[in-house]
Amino acid sequence: MSEKELKVTKIENGTVIDHIPAGKALDVIRILGITGKENYTVAILMNVESKKLGKKDLIKIENRVLEPREAKLISLVAPEATLNVISNFEVKEKYKLEPPEMIEGLIKCPNELCITNKQDEPILPKLKVVKGLKIVLECIYCGATLTSEEITKFIL
Ligand code: CTP
Ligand code: ZN
Repeated sequence: MSEKELKVTKIENGTVIDHIPAGKALDVIRILGITGKENYTVAILMNVESKKLGKKDLIKIENRVLEPREAKLISLVAPEATLNVISNFEVKEKYKLEPPEMIEGLIKCPNELCITNKQDEPILPKLKVVKGLKIVLECIYCGATLTSEEITKFIL
């Protein structure tokens, strides 16, 4: 463990999102809807030394667990992230986030004219996850695409 990580203490209960690619922590914060007005403690570390990634971001959230929906969205902006569930100061569960094949009903199609954005009788948006060097989402109805950088603007 590097010195920089030691500057933030271990948490008793909650969630540590580790191995976030450097620069992506604020996207993760946006996905989690954290505004800073909550009554739990959040530590955001950016550009921490990492053996695996060179530099990484890391987020510690006390007394909060993530919903599957949130974990899915985070996997799109931080595909190498690790989710640690902390209980009584111990890592009780550790998951490597894996982007799903399809994102259903969580992200809006960016094409305003798409049938999934119709005012009356809207269809549930379905975006295919195209895994290349960077993750791209592609609407299965109209083919419109969204890069991982744009995702946070289209969360439903
Ligand atoms: N952590 C924490 N509070 C705890 C336990 C762990 O904040 N009570 C943090 C650690 O600082 C670390 C992350 O949770 O950033 C994962 O902890 P651990 O599995 O002990 O660390 P590593 O072995 O380095 O994890 P990995 O193998 O996933 O890199
Ligand atoms: Zn569409």
